[in-house]
Amino acid sequence: MPENLPIVEQTLEQLGADTPERVAALFAKVRSEFDQAVTAVSDEVSWHVLRDGWLGRKAGVLALVTDNWLKPSGPAMKPAVGRGLNELRGHVESAIEERRKQIEAQAAERAAAAERIDFSLPGVERALGTRHLVRQTLEEIERIFLRLGFAVVDGPEIETPYYNFEALNMPEFHPARDMWDTFYVDTPAPNQLVLRTHTSPMQIRTMERQPPPVRVIVPGKVYRRDNPDASHLFMFHQIEGLAVDNDITFADFKGTIEFFVHEFLGKSARTRLRPSYFPFTEPSAEVDATCIVCSGRGCRVCKQTGWLEIMGAGMVDPAVYGFVGYDPKKVSGFAFGMGVDRLAILKYGIDDIQVLMQNDVRFLRQFP
Ligand code: DAH
Repeated sequence: MPENLPIVEQTLEQLGADTPERVAALFAKVRSEFDQAVTAVSDEVSWHVLRDGWLGRKAGVLALVTDNWLKPSGPAMKPAVGRGLNELRGHVESAIEERRKQIEAQAAERAAAAERIDFSLPGVERALGTRHLVRQTLEEIERIFLRLGFAVVDGPEIETPYYNFEALNMPEFHPARDMWDTFYVDTPAPNQLVLRTHTSPMQIRTMERQPPPVRVIVPGKVYRRDNPDASHLFMFHQIEGLAVDNDITFADFKGTIEFFVHEFLGKSARTRLRPSYFPFTEPSAEVDATCIVCSGRGCRVCKQTGWLEIMGAGMVDPAVYGFVGYDPKKVSGFAFGMGVDRLAILKYGIDDIQVLMQNDVRFLRQFP
């Protein structure tokens, strides 16, 4: 029973309703209470509360009106009370039923709205990962050499000193081993292992596996015991190149490198070779390309020289062929090795190589 209707718990006599007009006024009061209550109902739960409160068989308002008003009234008042009650019942029942339909319709509409697809809404944007700048650069370099007929091969990052040094013409205690600050793997004495300091060991592994002609590039990670700074990482990426056949000359080497530089840095980039030393090439050279920052005029990046060193290279030393069973009298070839991370930062004007490893998405997003 709704709280604000204490009158239905009293009899008409107690309420002093002794004329049909007073009875009608009481019914009007009850009806207006009902009208307020029914408009306040907004969902299924409150609708059930309303229905039970008004139509409940024992304690509903209409049951109380029947018990307290109709039944005790005498013949003089009974017709008026009966009429009032009938009208009230008709009104309450139809209004409650009406409200039920409205609530159901609203619920159905809400459910439909939840399922309806609004084609004008922006789509859910899923952040796609992108290839890291180093990976992009590796792939770009690979594509250039693939066009020249080079094949791409992979090799192990943990190497034996034989492949990393010895077969590259550096016997144990050879001072040239000091060119690479090497990480040694903690293994029992005769089974020494190193983290490869360069991709050059794959020259040996490739030639061991196949007779000439050889034309491969080897992208991969290399490791050196260097303290990281703006131009050093202790893990970085190289691409090794090796071309061996029975008629390869220094001119082939130069042409290949010039093609690469034009493709990678642009047609206006020029190349120069400086004599150098590597145990596994003879003659050896360092390859410089026109500084891409200042186009050769001289700047901070190229230390005012106008040139950037981009790789070590040379003609494969005949001694190396001896380690892989090639006949040094019949074959010749060139090899080169370049630092991919360094090339990436040069190409994109990045002044600290370490950003490549820090994985700051604000940096990575600049290279979609
Ligand atoms: N492996 C050398 C390095 O890491 C780079 C290099 C120089 C590779 C000359 C070569 C080469 O293939 O012929 O410093």
